[in-house]
Amino acid sequence: RRVVVLASGTGSTMRAVLEAARDESYGARVVGLVTDKEGAGALDIAREFGIPTAVVRLADFESRALWDQAIARTIATFDPELVLLAGFMRMLGEPSLERFGGRILNTHPALLPAYPGAHGVRDALAGGAKVTGCTVIVVDHGVDTGPIVAQAAVEVRDDDTEATLHERIKGVERGLVVRTLGRLAREGWTVTGRSVRIGAATPT
Ligand code: GRF
Repeated sequence: RRVVVLASGTGSTMRAVLEAARDESYGARVVGLVTDKEGAGALDIAREFGIPTAVVRLADFESRALWDQAIARTIATFDPELVLLAGFMRMLGEPSLERFGGRILNTHPALLPAYPGAHGVRDALAGGAKVTGCTVIVVDHGVDTGPIVAQAAVEVRDDDTEATLHERIKGVERGLVVRTLGRLAREGWTVTGRSVRIGAATPT
């Protein structure tokens, strides 16, 4: 299955997927990287793996609505069956949800519905959580509110900082994303309300 990755950051999650996809039997093939950040580390990783890239900067557009449309059109140029948000730090607008809704996965560094939003790791620490983790969801119109596909728990240590905790989460999250994306790509899935069933027909 053709997968487009959206990333704004260092891209270590995408790297894990690219390495897994070297194996023909993985079932998912990354066909493009779309980012909103021209200096994103993910761009260097994509180039290292020979993956086409596209930068769609919010500053280049007159309005958010025009950027939303440009992002959707750019994703569409890669003709994906699946879209993976791997550290993409902007909300996808209506145009992307209309075109790819039900086929957009996002990974979040907390055990949703706990600690949604841009600071899930910091919020778990501030909340005194003893266990946090990571979650793969199918993206809907809300912020980290879509149906949950997979989760993994990560312990919080007393001496953790946001950085040490996030690194420990990412170590677990990479594996969760690789395994979940591979299963969805190979077996298909259906979303019914809040539940995602893997192994059923794929809504393409
Ligand atoms: C991941 O933990 C993701 O859940 C969060 O940002 C991190 C992305 O890391 N949104 P990277 O850019 O893939 O290294």
